[in-house]
Amino acid sequence: MSEIEISREGRVQVVRFNRAEKKNAITRTMYAQLANAITSTDSNDDIGATLFLGQPEVFTSGNDLMDFMAVATGGEKGTEVIDFLRAIITGTKPLIAGIDGLAVGVGCTMLMHCDLVYASNRAWVQTPFTDLGLVPEAASSLVAPRIMGPQRAFELLALSEKFSAEKAQAAGLVNSVVDVDELEAVAMSAAQKLADKPTESMRLTRELIRGDRSEIIAQMEKEGAIFAERLVSDEARNAFVAFMSRGKKAS
Ligand code: COA
Repeated sequence: MSEIEISREGRVQVVRFNRAEKKNAITRTMYAQLANAITSTDSNDDIGATLFLGQPEVFTSGNDLMDFMAVATGGEKGTEVIDFLRAIITGTKPLIAGIDGLAVGVGCTMLMHCDLVYASNRAWVQTPFTDLGLVPEAASSLVAPRIMGPQRAFELLALSEKFSAEKAQAAGLVNSVVDVDELEAVAMSAAQKLADKPTESMRLTRELIRGDRSEIIAQMEKEGAIFAERLVSDEARNAFVAFMSRGKKAS
């Protein structure tokens, strides 16, 4: 079974993270599959919307830290993550997310580019960029202050506080908080409603609401350049090593 599971329900494409044993951490291969899933809908008249889902108690723990470590120790970064982010920023069809449990790093910042976000009552988001010696990505340094105001954005992106589902809703990142048993049905129902509306009207409406994306792409690129420098910094390398050696007692 693929770590990104893609299926269809009517006119809705369902993209499900499927790597629960690693808390759905996203590898380069998974980013490439995600990017392809989103961009391919632009020219597919049979698909009207994409719904992102995860596993019980795990939406995703964000970028695979092993991949970050590989870059920190001289490996190639690749373009897969940028391809995915560009796809969700510029894609022409509605994006909906249903999050249960943890949504960390890009698992949180990708929500800022979704059109509707539903959370279970046990969902939470966090972006530990500064704890990892990194900086915000996915244009979150621009989009988060717009969604929730600069103070709350700073609390999320710089203080790296966990936001409960209720707090994320109060911040404007989440539309509704629902019982965990209802999450997927509620998110799917909204996705189907969007997917079944007149395609061109939906595309134009979405474009009007989302506005010009060039500023967002520019910020993502600016962040990306700094992020790449940070990945090879001592601060980041030390944080990755600490994560990998956590729980391992010295003998
Ligand atoms: N990258 C790589 N592996 C990850 C991962 C990530 N982002 N998140 C979790 N995993 C792996 C763990 O290494 C562990 O693997 P193992 O069983 O082989 O040791 C497994 O997934 C389970 O994770 P664990 O930490 O035991 O689960 P937890 O419930 O105690 O904690 C998290 C969950 C998400 C809070 C914690 O795993 C975490 O902080 N992950 C890193 C998140 C992160 O920093 N993402 C990048 C943001 S830019």
